[in-house]
Amino acid sequence: MTDRTDGRTALITGANRGIGRALAAELHHRGLHVLLTARTAEDARAAAGDIGPGTRWHALDTTDEDSVKRAAQAAGPLDILVCNAGVLLDAGTDPLSVPLDLVEETLRVNLLGTWRVIQHFLPPMVRRRRGHVLVVSSGTTAEFGGRLFAGAPGYSLSKSALNGLTTMLAALTEGTGVRVNAVNPGRVRTRMMPAMPQPPEDAARFIADVALLPGDGPTGRFLAEHRRPAETPDPTPQERPCDST
Ligand SMILES: NC(=O)c1ccc[n+]([C@@H]2O[C@H](COP(=O)([O-])OP(=O)(O)OC[C@H]3O[C@@H](n4cnc5c(N)ncnc54)[C@H](OP(=O)(O)O)[C@@H]3O)[C@@H](O)[C@H]2O)c1
Repeated sequence: MTDRTDGRTALITGANRGIGRALAAELHHRGLHVLLTARTAEDARAAAGDIGPGTRWHALDTTDEDSVKRAAQAAGPLDILVCNAGVLLDAGTDPLSVPLDLVEETLRVNLLGTWRVIQHFLPPMVRRRRGHVLVVSSGTTAEFGGRLFAGAPGYSLSKSALNGLTTMLAALTEGTGVRVNAVNPGRVRTRMMPAMPQPPEDAARFIADVALLPGDGPTGRFLAEHRRPAETPDPTPQERPCDST
């Protein structure tokens, strides 16, 4: 068990299950103060209780302005914000046939929800002149043949838009001590993607490595999951500019 002298605080959205929950457990294990959030207070409280003593929790529905505002007021100073909450609603469709109400809902959660959370939590980081915002993006933005994945068109566009937002925010916060990066967790076995090979704990370790990159680390980048061979430990995640997707 790592010691708790680090003193940093990390808030994670959508942390009641899947990657978010595994990340909350990983950061708790690494000695951070974790503020676990979920759409409902009940889910947040239950997940925090499972993770361990000292894990704070708060309700945070990214699509609800009042909910985000209340969570921001309750949170106190943050060092790390992980915008993890997301939905995949249009898998198996294509851009010509996808029902646009699914695209609209996907953008409402994935893009606008994330954007709303950042609007509330990033300015206090800038005032403190420290902080790291991580946006959980996706390989659908580029990994499939070097172009956008058309089999979940709304989802792919929502995550590509998040990469774009990341570059804008990184430019806006340049020189403030705050960094903004996007991360691709890889293909992870969760309720969203039940047939995927990678357990959420692996993705959580990768995201935690990125979240804890030192203060002079990258900003405005899309940091991609990769599996490091055990015999060649490499602490530096692969990276490429967000705008290369
Ligand atoms: N799994 C993969 O292979 C994969 C690959 C690339 C990227 N990602 C991304 O990784 C992130 C986590 O996905 P996951 O695989 O862990 O999926 P998951 O198990 O379905 O978890 C999604 C989480 O987001 C939460 N959420 C949804 N809408 C929300 C809202 N309006 N406000 C707050 N929380 C909300 C869910 O809460 P409820 O329980 O209340 O619904 C849940 O906690 C997502 O952004 C996803 O796009 C996943």
